This record gives sequence, C-alpha cells and structure tokens, in this order.
Amino acid sequence: MKQHFQLHSAIIALLISTISVQSCNNTARERLVTNFCESWKFNLGDVPKASDANYNDSAWRKLDLPHDWSIEGTFSKDYPAGTGGGALPGGIGWYRKSFAMPETEKGKLVFVDFDGVYLNSEVWINGHYLGIRPYGYSSFRYELTPYLNFGSSKNVIAVKVDNSRQPNSRWYSGSGIYRNVWLVVTSKLFVDHWGTAITTPDVTEQSAKVAINTKVRNANIEDCPCELITTIYNAEGKNVASIKNLCKVLKDSVLDVSQEILINSPSLWSIENPYLYKAISQITQNGKVVDSYETNFGIRYFNFDIDKGFLLNGKPVKIKGVCNHHDLGCLGSAINTRALERQLEILKAMGCNGIRTSHNPPAPELLDLCDKMGFIVMDEAFDMWKIEKNKFDYHLDWDKWHKRDLEDMIIRDRNHPCVFIWSIGNEIEEQEDKSGSGIPIARELKSIISNLDKTRPVTSALNSPDTNNYIYKSEALDLVGFNYHHQSFVDFHKNFPGQKFIATETTSGLQTRGYYEMPSTNIRKGDEDNEIINNKIKNIDYTCTAFDNISTPWGSTHEETWKLIKKYDFLSGMYIWTGFDYIGEPEPYAWPARSSYFGIIDLAGFPKDIYYMYQSEWTTKPILHVFPHWNWKQGDSIDVWAYSNCQEVELFLNGKSLGTKSKKGDELHLMWRVSFTPGALKAIARKGGKEILTQEIKTAGKPAKIKLTADRQTINADGKDLSFVTVAIVDKDGVLVPNADNLVKFNIEGNGTIAGVDNGYQISHEPFKASYRKAYNGLCLAVVQAKRKSGNITLTAVSEGLQNEKIVIEAK
Ligand code: GAL
Repeated sequence: MKQHFQLHSAIIALLISTISVQSCNNTARERLVTNFCESWKFNLGDVPKASDANYNDSAWRKLDLPHDWSIEGTFSKDYPAGTGGGALPGGIGWYRKSFAMPETEKGKLVFVDFDGVYLNSEVWINGHYLGIRPYGYSSFRYELTPYLNFGSSKNVIAVKVDNSRQPNSRWYSGSGIYRNVWLVVTSKLFVDHWGTAITTPDVTEQSAKVAINTKVRNANIEDCPCELITTIYNAEGKNVASIKNLCKVLKDSVLDVSQEILINSPSLWSIENPYLYKAISQITQNGKVVDSYETNFGIRYFNFDIDKGFLLNGKPVKIKGVCNHHDLGCLGSAINTRALERQLEILKAMGCNGIRTSHNPPAPELLDLCDKMGFIVMDEAFDMWKIEKNKFDYHLDWDKWHKRDLEDMIIRDRNHPCVFIWSIGNEIEEQEDKSGSGIPIARELKSIISNLDKTRPVTSALNSPDTNNYIYKSEALDLVGFNYHHQSFVDFHKNFPGQKFIATETTSGLQTRGYYEMPSTNIRKGDEDNEIINNKIKNIDYTCTAFDNISTPWGSTHEETWKLIKKYDFLSGMYIWTGFDYIGEPEPYAWPARSSYFGIIDLAGFPKDIYYMYQSEWTTKPILHVFPHWNWKQGDSIDVWAYSNCQEVELFLNGKSLGTKSKKGDELHLMWRVSFTPGALKAIARKGGKEILTQEIKTAGKPAKIKLTADRQTINADGKDLSFVTVAIVDKDGVLVPNADNLVKFNIEGNGTIAGVDNGYQISHEPFKASYRKAYNGLCLAVVQAKRKSGNITLTAVSEGLQNEKIVIEAK
C-alpha cells in the first residue's frame, strides 16, 4: 500500500540519525527530459490494429509533433463541428513512434508526458494499454518502465485520438497530439510528477519567506535514506539560498517534505519586471545526485480589495486583459512557442497585461511565457460542467473526470507567478438550473482547489451575474466574475455587498480589419436573435466595420466598457473578448464565415484600428493612429478618427487644416467629418504646442508591387522557429492599396518551409496550409518555418501584374 507522509524539517532531522544509508542504491545521474516529438507516423482514420507493437505502419505519413490534422483540411459547412467549430474536419487519427532505450537505462524509470491531446486519447506501449484521457486540454503522464525493451529491440508507442463525435466544442479545437510530448527518465528515487509546490507567504522589501513542498517518490523495494537539497538561484544564475533535509522515504511511497528558505532583499515579480527565481531540488544519496528537478517561481504578493480593486506588491494595478482561445491562426492548435510569443508581444505592445485562458487549461508554454513577459493570468478549467452546451462535449466525462482534470490543472500550474486567478468555469449552465445543482458542484470544485492552493482567489465567469445565480449562491467564489452586463458594474456593491469584482469577459465588439462604413457614429447592437442581427448589420461580403460601433447584443463597444473599468477603482479589471480573432464561432454570421470577428487583432495577427485605442490608453509612449484609408469617391462624407494620447491633433487634407481637436471629458477618440477628395491626409499630434508625432495617409493608386516585411530576419535552425512575413500590396509609390485582393504565390528555397498562410478574412476558404493566398484589404501573411539545418531561406512572392519581391531569412 502506498503511504503519504507529511514531515516537517525539524522532525526529519531528528529521525535521520537512526537511518542507515546502506539499504537503497540509485544510480547517480540527474533526470533526462527529452522532447519526444520527432519522427512519428500518422494515419488519419481508425486502424484498431495499430495498437499492436508489430503493426506495419510503413505506409503512414511521417511527421513531427505537435500536430493538428484539422487545420490541414478544407472548409465545409457540412462537417459535424459546424461553423462554430471552424468548418474543419475532426475524425479519428492514430500516431505511432518507435524508439530504442539503451541498455544503460535499465533500472531507471521511464515516463511519457503529454501536454495535451485533443480528444479522447488512448495510449499503448508495446501493445500494453496505458489508459485513456478524455479531456483534450489536460496534461498527463504514463509510466512506460515495466513494458519497455532495452538494448537493440525497439519499442513502439501508439496513440489513438478520437475527435469524431462532434460537436464537442463551441470553438475550433483542432485534432491530434497538438501539444508537446516528453520522455522523462529518472532514478527510482525522484521528485514526483509536478512534485513541487512553492509559495511565498511572507514578502516584504527586506525579505521573502519561500515555502517549498516537495514530493519525493521512492519506487524501490527498499526504504531510501537521502538528502533533499533545494537551492534557489536568482535570475542572474546566482545561488541565493539553499536548504538541506535528511529524509527517509519508505519503499513504494511518497514523502512530502516541507522546507522554508528566507531570501534577503528579494526582487519582486511584477508586470514591468517579471523577475523569476529558480528552485533546483536535488535528491542525493551518499553525496551523489540521483535526481534534480527545476521549478521556476516568482516572489510577489497581491490581493483583490473590495474598494481598491487589484493590488500587486501593494500597488493598485488595473487588469487590462484579453481572453484568447488556443488556436494560432493558420497554424491551427499545434503549439508553437514562437507563434504564442508573437501573440503575446503584440498584446504587450498594446499595453495589455492580462490573459484569460478561455475556457480551458492552456499549453504549459503559455504560462512560461506569461511568467517571463509579465501577464496576469486567469487560468480557467471548464466551459461546461454536468449540463451540456454541445451534444458531445465534456459533460459526458464530467462525473468520471472533473476532479482529476481540475486537480491536474492546479498542481501543474500553481508555481507560475503569472497565475493570479483560478476560474472554475465559463458561463456554466448550472448557474440557472432551478434544481440548484450548481451549488454542490461549485463547492466541490472550490474545495478541490483549496486543498492544493490557497494563495489565489477562485472565480467563475457568470453570464447571469445576479444574486439568484446558483454558483454565486454557493459562496464558493472569492471573486464575483462578470461576463458582460457592463450596465450593472456601477451597482456592483449595492447588489453584491462585501464582494470583490472582476470582469471575467467583456465587450464582444465586432470588427473586420481595414473595412469601413460611414457614418461611424451609429452604434449598432445586434438582437438576441442572430437572424435579426443579420438583417441589421449584414454586409454581403460578411464584414463588420472597423469603427468601434458594432457589438453583440450582450456586449458593448470597446470604448463603452473600458470607460467604466477605467473610472472605478473597485473594478479590478477586465478580460476583453478577444485579443485575437480565432477559428470558429463566427458571430454574428454563419457560413460562409468560419472564424470570429471579436479580436482586437485579426487571425493573421494584423491589428485592427481598435488596437490603437487601447495602446493610446494603456501605454505611456506617445501614440497617434488615424484612420480610415484615403481611397473613396469624390465628395463622399468620410469620418476620420484619431486615437492619440497627445494633447491635441491637427488634421490636414492636401495641406489645408481641418482643425485641431482635443479629447473632452471621457472621450477616447477624435473625429473629423471630411468631404473626400483624393490626396494626402496628414495628422500632427502635439503636446504643449510641440509636434510629437505625424501620420500621413495617401490615396493609393493601382496595385504595382509587393512589399515583404519579416518580423524576424534571423531565426533558429531548430525545425520549429518561425518568421512571420507580412505581405503588402502597394502602388508604384509604395502606398498600401487598401482594398487590394491580389492572389500572391509563394516560392520558398533553402532551409525553410511555409508553415501557413492567412489574410485574416473570415470567409476566405483558401486553405491555411498552402503556398498561395489572396490579399485581403491589402495584406496577407506567410509564416516561414526553419528546418533543422542552418542557412538562408529565400521567400519569393509573385502576383500577376505586380513586381515580384524576395526576402531572405537566415536560419542559424
Ligand atoms: C461569451 C462566451 C464566449 C464567446 C462569447 C462571444 O458569452 O463566454 O465563449 O462565446 O460569448 O461573444
């Protein structure tokens, strides 16, 4: 029988004198963690025999993980996932990989760690069934040791992925082993899976107490005396503190060891200075290290205050966050660290400081990046509980799996300093279930979390935030999470006395990059009934004007909600729906649209104009952004908007001033109504009479040339790294042609491939995995991926009637 012990350092120290060191010997060597993503075989379609070790997979496709087969498909409204799921295919897929384990690894433990497989994965090693994991967003581990061949005979791992029962998601999920896989080899005495829990219970400027709980697992058939040494390194790699405990771990058991370390003059983690420490836990026997395990953590303190909102390290911080789904545009849901980092860089440059992992546990890489880049993360577990939203969604697995899935999310993610809020669910149907079924479930989820982490508040994203809400009534929430309902933010304290507020989801504005309708001043909200929305704001080409004046009926314009959040301290912050457009859920239009309109940034990663409203409000650098483009019909009445944080902006048309304007009251943009005549529109932003910024928008002529701009011209030759190349259609003078839709064909030479193409247009049915793309409103994107060989990559873009263009990217 397995035992769990909770021993404190003092007691351990007393016990240790009686322990003999002879009884258990583990080979000295630190653990080996290898990325296990290269050279898999893949077959789309069910092949039940493929679980056999001897199955002949030679005809299968060879690929590297992470992999999403749905993104390789063609769009059709007839797939069971529907347009909500991105109009892309699901199905069943099999993956196999053969690998050798050297004889020298005998006596070690071998594990395979999956960061996430969508959906219903089942895994076999050498024909032995290891298990099933229904939830596509959970990370999980299997032990391979007892079934492995060491030496020259091969091992075969086989994975069945079943995403055939659809719809099972309200957005595009992707299908396959879409996150990383790791092979972990440890000694039999080792730090258990996700085996450290680090908190910083007392933090001042002078010192920080770091409390570390480590689970040491002994898989030997003898008891093991050992030492657990935890050393803390600062971000510069300097050893700043260390603690050693002698312990004895009984055979086939786990010992919980609690340690406390004091760090003097700690550098606190914050949004501006996301300072990370590293704890290295070493298990030693007879002076030899038998395992070594790393945990990044940060030192910070925070609280949500009823009146003051969110305070980080004692200072008020407004959470200026966005919700995102997990797809990476044309790369689908296959995780790629650079693609994720690019998204976060674009958001950071906007002044965004928060991410909500809507509505599921994220890839671990997202949290690593948010730790490093300084984001306030709301880590969310579920989009539904027992009551379905879609016929085949997680409600079918709820009873059997919710405890395990929630526990695993908390244990995996609790050391990340970027995680500040746990969300137990988004718009959960049980909120309104008259039987009150939501109450015990909410309480159970809260207690699962509290048993594992007491340092963060628990919320749930409530779309009926009133006191009759059963999740609210459960009293399980530390923060009352509002989805929308900005009209009742102001009355929050009246309606929820003594409670703390977070806007878990806001806005749901609708915009298409580069598309404008006049006048810009008519605020349009759809009706509850989407059909009516269609009649109200329909455009034949399925676009929504990029002026901030259209939203869903439940949402608001961007300005409307931000004005409120900005005004009241007790409103701790908000997570806007959404940072990026995502595949699926094309509200308010269905087919032929197949991706959403909500993003501040389009699917290809090109900011819409509203991006600059936030940038002008959320950053301190001077901003001037004037729009729309300047290609209209003579005499058209055009609304020209400017987002700027400078004191005043003067607008000129062909050298003639159209007046100087300053924002009044709580205004967030300036506007001039101008009768169109071609030429140049110029804006000058001034502070104290001094010219700070200028912007000129010229009437474009006919498409003449292609302009290529890479976000990075040197990338790593690691088979993963990416360069995002923006393709602009310009006239002979280099002016962007605002409605250009030229078809661009790409040719790539050298050590790279094209990982995906896009133009951000919701109804484009061109494939994402292709070497061509039509521009949309002047722009498209080619994502170049390095091979595993260094050298130059040349991307050539060709379009009929236009001058070709080339760009060279270096992979090293
Ligand atoms: C919310 C929901 C999101 C998304 C959004 C669209 O109610 O939580 O997942 O569907 O609406 O506006």
